[in-house]
Amino acid sequence: MTGQSLQDFVRAYEVAHPDDVCTVDREVSLDQDITAVVWELADRGEHPLLRFPCVRGADREVVTNLFASRVRIERMLGARPGELHDRYQHLAANSMEMAELDDGPVTGRVDAGDRIDLFELPLLTHFATDRGPYITSGIVVAEDAAGGRGNLSYHRSVVASPTSLGTSLHSRGDLWRLLQDAAASGRRLPVAMVIGAHPLFMLAASARAPFDVDEREIAGGLLGEPLEVVRTPKHGLRVPASAEVVLEGEIDPAADEDEGPFGEFSGYSSDRSTRNRIDVCTVMQRDGAVWVDVVGGNSQEHLNLGRVPREAEMIAKLKDRFGSVVGVHYPNSGTHFHCYVAVDQRRPGEARQALLGLLGWDPYLKTVVAVDADVDITSDAEVLWALATHFQPERDMIVIGGLPGSALDPSADKLGTTSRLALDATRGAGFDAQRVQISDEARAVGREIAADRAGEVNG
Ligand SMILES: Cc1cc2nc3c(=O)[nH]c(=O)nc-3n(C[C@H](O)[C@H](O)[C@H](O)COP(=O)(O)O)c2cc1C
Repeated sequence: MTGQSLQDFVRAYEVAHPDDVCTVDREVSLDQDITAVVWELADRGEHPLLRFPCVRGADREVVTNLFASRVRIERMLGARPGELHDRYQHLAANSMEMAELDDGPVTGRVDAGDRIDLFELPLLTHFATDRGPYITSGIVVAEDAAGGRGNLSYHRSVVASPTSLGTSLHSRGDLWRLLQDAAASGRRLPVAMVIGAHPLFMLAASARAPFDVDEREIAGGLLGEPLEVVRTPKHGLRVPASAEVVLEGEIDPAADEDEGPFGEFSGYSSDRSTRNRIDVCTVMQRDGAVWVDVVGGNSQEHLNLGRVPREAEMIAKLKDRFGSVVGVHYPNSGTHFHCYVAVDQRRPGEARQALLGLLGWDPYLKTVVAVDADVDITSDAEVLWALATHFQPERDMIVIGGLPGSALDPSADKLGTTSRLALDATRGAGFDAQRVQISDEARAVGREIAADRAGEVNG
């Protein structure tokens, strides 16, 4: 471990993997420049951790693209190449209670009342289609009134006034449930928004854990040591002691705040929102805080953060229940709505069973495709080839309607009610076509000639 702060992590990572960190010394603006850099690099197949020390109008460095590479996430978790999901699942299962401290770096500066002006934060606009600047890496901490079990979840937020944020709880996860409980007992819900913390805390926050599981304890599992926390001044919520910035406040269940549109993971700008308001009463910041951003839209980072814990959970569940499942992949092209599953089918129907399991367990999935284990599920082209050659629509397709899905799917109604499609593109029992083959000898010749040509081209 390198300590529990984001800045410790970035420093250590840069020493270990200097080629995977890019510091942009040129001055950039708060308005879309950072998104444009992420997009242009991604078009070239590059996904480095990005540091922007010179952002016009910002009083601090901006760090982004932390999660844009699966290899980097493997390294964060100490996983060997290809073992991302097993390692995540193993560490997350060893959750640890938090360690409470009296103070920590984030208590370095605490402002309350008139001293708060949220417009002073380095607020980035990500897309021309956004309502305006958005906080995109904000992780909301809330605790249930009875036992203090906590929940972490991300919520896009726009600064509505010097002391309030407009936010959306459209994924209707555990924070939504806590807010409904508060409303039923006539209370405002105390919350704290963490902006910038150790990447493993950020990864744990994106897990859709059961209601009685506290993702701060999962963060401890991922870190391999208890998450060190301090209490916020007014409501005593436990937040990472080494966080960069924490906004403490309350959500009034009855209050309404206009927010959106915002560029969402679907690749579309969305104004589907629960339009909640967070009234901020305290701002905590460490000395020399950096600003952590997650570029929205269907960026690799936005998608990875949401899907890595989900893929890990789905693989574990499927393998536990169905021995024939070999792997699961959520492709970029499907945002969070598509999943490919590879099966080593020994009995007819096993692939369908795995497909139905996926559709039942992951509420965001809309289309799932099963292929045989020799098909590379990380390649859209291979999966489409399997679909083209193994799949018969009349025989191999299952459609189920009227299910709750993502409200951000533009093709679904505003509550996200959706139908789901399972496509069995495994070869099946009666399949007898022979796949084309090239002899090993010919392959060796081909490799030599290709290598010679590469040498000529590269000089
Ligand atoms: C980068 C990022 C941004 C997100 N933004 C939102 C958001 O604005 N509103 C929302 O309801 N969910 C959002 N989500 C999804 C929730 O944070 C996520 O589903 C979370 O795991 C819910 O957990 P819970 O069921 O434990 O509350 C976002 C997820 C990520 C990774």
